[in-house]
Amino acid sequence: MFLKIFIWPLLLNLALSTASDFTYNGFKGANLSLDGMATLTSDGLLRLTNISKHEQGHAFSTVPLQFKRSPMGTVISFSTVFVFAIAPEYSMFGGHGFAFVLSPSMHLLQTFPTRYLGLFNSSNNGNPLNHIFAVEFDTIEDAEMADINDNHVGIDINGGISNKSKPTGFISDDDGQFKNLSLVSGEPMIAWIEYDGINMQLNVTVSPLSMPKPKLALLSFTVNLSNVILDHMYAGFSASTGLPCSFHYILGWSFKMDGKVPELDISSLPRLPRAVTSSKDKTGTILMWLLLSLSVLVLMTVAAARMIMVRKKRFSELLEDWELDFELHRFSYKQLFKATRGFKDEYLLGVGGFGRVYRGVLPDTKVEVAIKRVCHESRQGVREFVAELVSLGQLQHRNLVPLLGYCRREGELILVYEYMPNRSLDKYLFCEGESTLSWSQRFWIIKGVASGLLYLHEDWERVVIHRDVKASNVLLDGDMNGRLGDFGLARLYDHGGVPQTTHLAGTVGYLAPELSRTCRVTTSSDVFAFGVFLLEVACGRRPIEPEKAEDMQVLIDWVLANWRKGTIMETRDERLGEEYVAEELELVLKLGLLCSHPLPTARPSMRRVIQLLHGNIPLPDPLLLNQLYTKDSAFVKYGGTNAYVMSCTSLSSESLLFSGR
Ligand SMILES: *[C@@H]1O[C@H](CO)[C@@H](O)[C@H](O)[C@H]1NC(C)=O
Ligand SMILES: *[C@@H]1O[C@H](CO)[C@@H](O)[C@H](O)[C@H]1NC(C)=O
Ligand SMILES: *[C@@H]1O[C@H](CO)[C@@H](O)[C@H](O)[C@H]1NC(C)=O
Ligand SMILES: *[C@@H]1O[C@H](CO)[C@@H](O)[C@H](O)[C@H]1NC(C)=O
Ligand SMILES: *[C@@H]1O[C@H](CO)[C@@H](O)[C@H](O)[C@H]1NC(C)=O
Ligand SMILES: *[C@@H]1O[C@H](CO)[C@@H](O)[C@H](O)[C@H]1NC(C)=O
Ligand SMILES: *[C@@H]1O[C@H](CO)[C@@H](O)[C@H](O)[C@H]1NC(C)=O
Repeated sequence: MFLKIFIWPLLLNLALSTASDFTYNGFKGANLSLDGMATLTSDGLLRLTNISKHEQGHAFSTVPLQFKRSPMGTVISFSTVFVFAIAPEYSMFGGHGFAFVLSPSMHLLQTFPTRYLGLFNSSNNGNPLNHIFAVEFDTIEDAEMADINDNHVGIDINGGISNKSKPTGFISDDDGQFKNLSLVSGEPMIAWIEYDGINMQLNVTVSPLSMPKPKLALLSFTVNLSNVILDHMYAGFSASTGLPCSFHYILGWSFKMDGKVPELDISSLPRLPRAVTSSKDKTGTILMWLLLSLSVLVLMTVAAARMIMVRKKRFSELLEDWELDFELHRFSYKQLFKATRGFKDEYLLGVGGFGRVYRGVLPDTKVEVAIKRVCHESRQGVREFVAELVSLGQLQHRNLVPLLGYCRREGELILVYEYMPNRSLDKYLFCEGESTLSWSQRFWIIKGVASGLLYLHEDWERVVIHRDVKASNVLLDGDMNGRLGDFGLARLYDHGGVPQTTHLAGTVGYLAPELSRTCRVTTSSDVFAFGVFLLEVACGRRPIEPEKAEDMQVLIDWVLANWRKGTIMETRDERLGEEYVAEELELVLKLGLLCSHPLPTARPSMRRVIQLLHGNIPLPDPLLLNQLYTKDSAFVKYGGTNAYVMSCTSLSSESLLFSGR
């Protein structure tokens, strides 16, 4: 590993009172041991990493500190304070974080970047022989390190899994309330780490630079560090980057054994580079230039350079090695940008639960496409998800919307589908006035969607659960065939979650009641949503309409009540007039009820649904159905759906992301 030791003849800002205390108000002339990406800038900033990917940087005091009075003794009290700033390459996406560290050596060798923060590697993580004490400032939620979120402070003893951690923030002296801080804001913040050797209490406090030290600590942890900290240890910092990267800066640092740490002189700390957030090193240099020589020529050069950068940034996308093996076509962002004239609003087809959909015309082939921009906050799991999409791209069925390819940008996935000229079914079903869809068209669409869903459930090499069957996800091609879109998209949210958290994506009103308990989607929960879809098509209304009279709000309950009274046919879409086949309509309504039965075991499979729809087998005996739909089970459903009405009155049937433990 590359190692350099900075020896400066002048000790400008360094006040060394004893061998065990030091204060750096900026690091000009500081005697630190640096390695990896760590460097001292000419302004006196300690920069632990730049935005090179998968790198680490270390900086240690060159003098070991004595932590015990006798070799086998207990750890003496110590305290330290430092000012830091994290400036991510892309605003709001930090990578990975940094830590204050006490280590037996000032050379941390064979450590890994990314989640290991340059402190550990995959084989020594958690090993008590490490004798590493660290306080991490972590900007990525890593499931393997059991991270609580992507903006936390944690106490790490011998491993990257924190013994205790909290979201970054402070407890206000004024009202005792927790106020959050964003580590990746690029703003300088101040942190105190204090250990009371007698009470064995470790405190970590963070606050914005402009505030006095909060009275209450953010983290307070009782721990006997005697077995962790050796006689002599080096104090310092470690930081790492991954795919997302940040500049990690330390502006000033003070350390004291056995006493109150001297305060830093905030006014004499070095300045952070200008526009450090969401910029590259180059911008900084360009700005410097501008200041130095105010010549018009330079101004013009800079303007030109900026234009190129803006252009570059505008079309920037993410492409990683693992994607090269995939067979699904990858579009360039530039192509898609051109196809939609820069994602202009006039090209917007709709805004769904997963993002905006645009109509576009591919520049070279002039093919019309639908372009869906899916925002995702978590970067984790995107790889798995894209892999899954690729395999879904191989799905070919006349009742599925073909996926043509994709493109990836920071925090965004763009999916390109074949354009469906007749748009989505809900536009026809829920419009005001005369319906433009005849019963025969509706029945044809229902049969098509059923066979598309059967293909996903049973006829492909793997079971694919759609997770979001509903009228607005059924698109109509040029021949008015119903085609399911968006299959598998809800998976993205699953992949992003930490294992303990279950995210349930779907749409209110179509979620099977058992999902609120198990959060496990199955083919049977798809069948439930399909049942609701059947009722939507037959009744021409949305599954939940809060503005209706109470007994009519929930579609399933209303149809069920009518069926009990023997008036099920009265729930049909009035706009059909007399133009319908009574047997078919009745079949669809009853099948809708059967499919959306509260008990998963009572629902038919999609294969059976197809047989029923084609009249190959008769519907189960109505009496039997009635028994299945007992009062008790109906209650389950009432409880379920009504709860959704309560919490979602203003959301109508938009996609919702449920999360819970
Ligand atoms: C980061 O710093 C290293 C060494 O200091 C240098 O080689 C590398 O080019 C820098 N990376 C970027 C992206 O500036
Ligand atoms: C810096 O630290 C090294 C290693 O401890 C030491 O040899 C050197 O004398 C120090 N330099 C200054 C200027 O203090
Ligand atoms: C991890 O670091 C230890 C030294 O602390 C070293 O012995 C070991 O080989 C390293 N493991 C890996 C996988 O690099
Ligand atoms: C801290 O966590 C490490 C493992 O990550 C564990 O070995 C150690 O016992 C923990 N220490 C305390 C005091 O909880
Ligand atoms: C703090 O949290 C609230 C709510 O979670 C959020 O709206 C706000 O932006 C956060 N502030 C910072 C500085 O991250
Ligand atoms: C740690 O914080 C608690 C309150 O948050 C305080 O009572 C205690 O004295 C602090 N200990 C140290 C060592 O600062
Ligand atoms: C802390 O740990 C050391 C080493 O195991 C032990 O000698 C000491 O008694 C412990 N202190 C307390 C208060 O438990």
